[in-house]
Amino acid sequence: MRKLSITPKGFLRVAQTAFASLYLIIITGSLVRLTGSGLGCADWPRCSESKFVDVSNSHAAIEQVNRLFTGVVAASVILAVLLSVKLRPKRRDLVAMSIGLVIGVLAQVLLGGLVVLTGLNPFSNIAHFLVSMVLMSNAYMLLQHARIFRTEETVLPRREPEISNSKILLLVRIVLFLTGSAVVTGTVVTGSGPHAGDENAIRIRLAINTAAKIHSITVIICLITALVLFLMSRRDQVSWRILAHPLERFLAIGFLQGLIGYVQYFSGLPVLLVAVHVALSVAVWLGALDLYWNSKLPKIS
Ligand code: HEM
Repeated sequence: MRKLSITPKGFLRVAQTAFASLYLIIITGSLVRLTGSGLGCADWPRCSESKFVDVSNSHAAIEQVNRLFTGVVAASVILAVLLSVKLRPKRRDLVAMSIGLVIGVLAQVLLGGLVVLTGLNPFSNIAHFLVSMVLMSNAYMLLQHARIFRTEETVLPRREPEISNSKILLLVRIVLFLTGSAVVTGTVVTGSGPHAGDENAIRIRLAINTAAKIHSITVIICLITALVLFLMSRRDQVSWRILAHPLERFLAIGFLQGLIGYVQYFSGLPVLLVAVHVALSVAVWLGALDLYWNSKLPKIS
């Protein structure tokens, strides 16, 4: 059998595939919930007691497609591990991050089962969504490391960040924290709202308007902080050179997401708009992570 080998460029493609499949399964997973197909397959890992694969009605078919897509995701992260080991020069950082993806996907398979077996308990749903965000962060880091430190022999070199303005560095961290908080409070809105997976699903005992208020206030504070960061960075030449693009991207997606959030809330949470809101929440989080990553990016000579 031919030996498995890979170039750094080839590995970058593998990392991109893992990233894309992990993002896609968040969207297909949200469509399961939004079409009320959460218990389309009432059993796990089999779809039903009598069938492993069942597409006899639309709910079962939607849930089934999502479960089968898990196979694609699993294959992409296992491939990342196998090929990261084959990379030369050795890249322990890429091996560790690829293993992290496999562990995360395994955790998601188990959590997905817990969601079904607990009858769509909102807290297991929240855990399922938040672990997805952790996985996306891991996949993002894998991509960045694969892209930038292709020729490094060992782990990421820890050199001083180029930005020396401590207030700006602190604000970047605060924006990251507030974005994470917006994501968490968003899952609580979902847990207390109508889109739980099916009409009989248990809800968090919190009025949806209270949850939405907490969520939107977190978002407003986050966006105002990002605007302050934007204005402060403009006055610092080094920071502006590094952060201008990541900040512009973050603010553009953040404001768009905020707008969609309000529109969906005041228009009775239409399924399509909520699906876009879920997909964009991943982009907003990755935007904040990108900001943080760029602020810490070591100088490469
Ligand atoms: C940066 C901006 C925002 C981010 C990152 C964000 C993130 C999220 C997340 C992660 C969820 C949960 C998705 C899930 O559990 O599947 C969510 C749900 C929700 N968000 Fe936001 N959100 C933002 C802005 C807003 C704003 C300004 C509003 C206005 C009230 C809003 C209203 C909602 C509502 C109503 C839901 C529940 C949707 C459902 O029924 O599933 N969001 N958001």
